[in-house]
Amino acid sequence: MTEIPKRIGVLTSGGDCPGLNAVLRGVVRAATNRNWKVFGFVDGFEGLLPPGDFIPLTTARTAGIMHLGGTILGTTNRGHFVAKVGEGSKAEIPKEIIEQARETLRRLQIDAVIAIGGDGSLTTAQQLWESGIPMIGVPKTIDNDLEATATTFGFDSAVACVADALDRLHTTASSHKRAMVIEVMGRHAGWIALYGGLAGGADIILIPEIPFDHERVANAVKKRDADGCLSTLIVVAEGAREIEGHLRARTVSSGEVKLGGIGEIVAHEIAQRTGKETRTCVLGHLQRGGAPTTLDRILGTRFGVKAVELIAEGKFGEMVSYQNYHVLSVPIADAVHRIKLVQPDSQMVRTCRDVGISFGD
Ligand code: F6P
Repeated sequence: MTEIPKRIGVLTSGGDCPGLNAVLRGVVRAATNRNWKVFGFVDGFEGLLPPGDFIPLTTARTAGIMHLGGTILGTTNRGHFVAKVGEGSKAEIPKEIIEQARETLRRLQIDAVIAIGGDGSLTTAQQLWESGIPMIGVPKTIDNDLEATATTFGFDSAVACVADALDRLHTTASSHKRAMVIEVMGRHAGWIALYGGLAGGADIILIPEIPFDHERVANAVKKRDADGCLSTLIVVAEGAREIEGHLRARTVSSGEVKLGGIGEIVAHEIAQRTGKETRTCVLGHLQRGGAPTTLDRILGTRFGVKAVELIAEGKFGEMVSYQNYHVLSVPIADAVHRIKLVQPDSQMVRTCRDVGISFGD
């Protein structure tokens, strides 16, 4: 029996991330190979609202995009489909919004939708799936905080950005014999700080999972000075907090806390307690922009191709997942029930400690 060619939708949702275009290209190539048509919905789930805002995605339209950062479809972490507001709390997408999305898909005769997103967007995908819309999830986040997948594309690119920044800070810090604090992203998880810090030769890494003490951080700086290492590089995750301290939030928008500001506080405390000249650098959205690393291009392509395979097999409600070098799938629900955090006693943390990195604890 010959297979009836499918019509599928794909969208990118939430914060952008290097590798999104590699996934889109992978989806389009694998779908085109099967003679399927691909509709790229614009600005995340918002593109599903009537009359439907989409770009027909073809091999030609997705040629030469793999190395580009961002997403050719546009994205948003706001709008009508927000299903996660802040750490852990969920919101129900209004029924009429889901019905409007269903109507757009029915009118365009779309068989399934691939949602590429982080925990918030995958929570939305899960709600659409529970309401009967055939959904496939593709995990995306620079933060690497998604459960049920060993890693996400975008993380390696963000880590490479942190390591590059540390290489640059190293030369200026050592020339001036300063302590340099760099604040990095990651929300409530310390993965970017941990991996970026190790790769970039950081001396102190502060992460949310290991609350720190300013006095211990200052002592680590003093010890380096005493050992003749007159500059110190300190990586601070934006979600890091002092023992019994609280999160530093910049602004609060649509219920979501925006983290930031802890780097400046750490630098100030080091200067006060050590008398050392100290500077702060907030790496910010540089970590999200620019070309994906080769690893993220390959992972993104593999994820895109696997998502198409899952549709062909009718495995809806599943999310592509990376496990032991294989691209498999798990229920979307498994990935969104809680965020994945660094284990304080993990081998990675122990490795850092063994090469002399202080966690300020
Ligand atoms: O989740 C990715 C991330 O870059 C976080 O690391 C950061 O806290 C947040 O998004 C910033 O979001 P926005 O795009 O709203 O600035």
